[in-house]
Amino acid sequence: MIIGNWKMNTLREEARTLAESLAELPVQPTTRVGVCPPVIWQQTVGEVLKGSPVMVGLQDCVGDPFGAQTGCVNAAMARDAGCQFVVLGHSERRQRFSETTDTLIPALQAVLEAGLFPILCVGETRDDRDQGRAIEVVDAQLAPVLTAGLDLDGLVVAYEPVWAIGTGLSASQSDIDTMHTTIRAILDRDDAVVLYGGSVSPESAPDVFASQAVSGALVGGASLDIEKFAAIVAAWEQR
Ligand code: 13P
Repeated sequence: MIIGNWKMNTLREEARTLAESLAELPVQPTTRVGVCPPVIWQQTVGEVLKGSPVMVGLQDCVGDPFGAQTGCVNAAMARDAGCQFVVLGHSERRQRFSETTDTLIPALQAVLEAGLFPILCVGETRDDRDQGRAIEVVDAQLAPVLTAGLDLDGLVVAYEPVWAIGTGLSASQSDIDTMHTTIRAILDRDDAVVLYGGSVSPESAPDVFASQAVSGALVGGASLDIEKFAAIVAAWEQR
């Protein structure tokens, strides 16, 4: 699975043009490719990608039902808009909007109940890693999810070391392998999908995908450049 997260980028025409290129992307039937545009362009992008193999999702949603929540969208809206997945708990949201896995549980539940799949982001800061606490931190981020009594069929986890996001730095091959193997053990599911995110590029992708414990990538910056994104998809298919 290769997912592009456009974050807060693109004006409408750029989004449409990128989506038109994505619709033309050659994708093998066993590869799942998706994109999460800014929520305001979701409809535009969704219309272009309708009938193509590329899935559309949201970068975030709240767990609340309909009501007085200025600026928010929920999972029912995401499904009604044609989304197949929602990214939850991205570190940029954890940092800026004080989200924690505990506060994310209702959103996770709502996304699963809406029949969409959640991509739950976890990952340590530079300090955590320097202090040898990377695994402990990721374990603590996942624990509330596993004990919340949710039906986790379809859950996708994205391991995104915070210090590797948008920095051009990547975790080493062995750190990626160790963390992904650990996350799989924590999830204890044969069908666990665990993506890697953090400066994935056409150059770093072959190394990232070398680990059998990696199920694909959550791509930020490089997903805004169709040639780079296509090269990452190709690297996945050639691994
Ligand atoms: P970059 O690929 O730009 O580092 O972003 C990764 C990410 O945060 C994807 O959600």
